[in-house]
Order: sequence, then structure tokens, then C-alpha cells
Amino acid sequence: MARIIGGLTTSHVPSIGGAIARGDQQTPYWKPLFDAFTPIHAWLEEMKPDVAIVIYNDHGLNFFLDKMPTFAVGAAASYDNADEGWGIPVLPSFEGDPDLSWHMIDSLVADEFDITMCQEVLVDHAFTLPIKLMYPNAGPTWPLRTIPVMINSVQHPLPSAARCWKLGQAIGRAIESYPKDLKVVVLGTGGLSHQLDGTRAGFINKDFDLLCMEKIVSDPVVLTQYSNRQIIELAGSQGVELMTWIAMRGALQGKVSTVTSTYHAPISNTGGAVMLLANEPVATLAAAE
Ligand code: DHB
Ligand code: FE
Repeated sequence: MARIIGGLTTSHVPSIGGAIARGDQQTPYWKPLFDAFTPIHAWLEEMKPDVAIVIYNDHGLNFFLDKMPTFAVGAAASYDNADEGWGIPVLPSFEGDPDLSWHMIDSLVADEFDITMCQEVLVDHAFTLPIKLMYPNAGPTWPLRTIPVMINSVQHPLPSAARCWKLGQAIGRAIESYPKDLKVVVLGTGGLSHQLDGTRAGFINKDFDLLCMEKIVSDPVVLTQYSNRQIIELAGSQGVELMTWIAMRGALQGKVSTVTSTYHAPISNTGGAVMLLANEPVATLAAAE
């Protein structure tokens, strides 16, 4: 059976791509972010996940305001990146896992999540940069297959935190009912607090970010009780990317423990947070009883 072995959350600020291209990883500004990935590299080397489910928000590369699915799942054999206008390198294509995608789609629809299924998807910085941070020396191929899961965080009305938690739980059930013997890591990319426009542009709320980082491990249901308006007030208008973290955490229904957790602000305009959570899968726990 497929097993979810961990959950990884990270900010996905586009300028990370510029820092990588310039070789700025060890400059004082960038070092705390890049160093946060050192224990993650060791964990990936040891655990060797086969597939990453990447829960993120598309920022207009793939979907735009004319057509905006609330939840979408990729079902392609490969996913291309493209130029979003940030002036950062376009990364090599990412291999998909169509069989697992269709299993997830079947399972999610049966579970009453009427998601948009995508046989072609361009993946933006929120998908590509976290994988590049995980595997800085990979290329032109990546060491694992990927499945994009997109949550609308651009066009209101947005799904609620509670709904994203339930989506994550349904993704967890889908993966753990997949008959192939795969090790799966679930990513939630985005956040934490940031606001890129309007009178509060540059707003960061470190106290709320640290609270989210604590609760995402110990008591994630607390985070599902915030309304979207409350999240925007507390974390800025783009702080709603917290939804991707909540969905990731919903998928981890085993015994969850922190492998590493780092906060550093600002990274560009964002409270930069990186966490890796180990998940002892439900099936493994049951077998041990
Ligand atoms: C920034 C953060 C984001 O999440 C994003 O998608 C784009 C820009 C920033 O802080 O610059
Ligand atoms: Fe973003």
C-alpha cells in the first residue's frame, strides 16, 4: 500500500529562484532559508520518497480570473514550468504519476470533492521552487514523481480553512488506499504571513506565524476555526496560502512529529517558514497494535 511518510511546508517566494541562479545561498540574507533545508536533504536521502503530492496555489500561470477552480488535481504524465515574468530560470519538467492521479481523483470525487481534473497543467513557482529547494543538485530530471493539487487563493470566494482540512483528509484517504507500494510525501507550499498589495503591503505577523507553526503540529484543528476574513486580518491578503499547509496537515493522519522547523522573516515580503513533519502512517500504527 502507498504510505504517507511525511509532510513538508515551505514559503515559495519567487525570489528564491533568483537567489539560486545567482548562487546567493550563503549570503546573510538567504542563508537562514537555505540552511533550513539541510536536515530535509538528510531526511530525503534516508527516506527516498517516490512521489510528492504538491498542494499549492496557482498565481495566474495556469488558471486566471476568467476560470478559477476551487480545487484542481493534475493527471498528466509530466508538468512543465514556464516564465511567469519574475525573471527567474524556468525549471526542467516534472514527471507525473497519472495512475496515482486518477486514483486520487476517483477517490476525491467519491468522497464528495468535485475537483477539476487537469490533463495539462503548467506549474508555477509555488510548485517548482519547493522541489528545487528539496533537491538542489537534481536535474534535468527530478528524483521523484509529482502530482499538483491546486487550491484557489486568488479569486474570492476562497474555500474555508475547514474545507481545506477536509480536502487534506480526503487526499490522505486516497493515498493510503492506493494498492501500489509507494512512499509519499505531501507538500503544502505558501505563506506564511504576507500581503503584496494595498495599504498593508509588506505586512508580516510573526506572532501569528509562530502560532501557526506550533498548531500545525500539535492541534491543527484550531487553525481550521479561523474564517478567511480573520486569516486575512491576521496574516495579510496572501497569508491565505496557509490553506495549503492546513490541507497538507489534513493528509497526515498518523503519528506526526517534527523533524525540523525554521522561521525567518522577511524573505522578500513574507514570513518565511520551513517545516518537515514525519508521519508514521495509520497502517503502520495499526499493524504494530
Ligand atoms: C512573494 C510571496 C509569494 O507567496 C508569492 O507568490 C509571490 C511573491 C513575495 O514575498 O515577494
Ligand atoms: Fe504565493
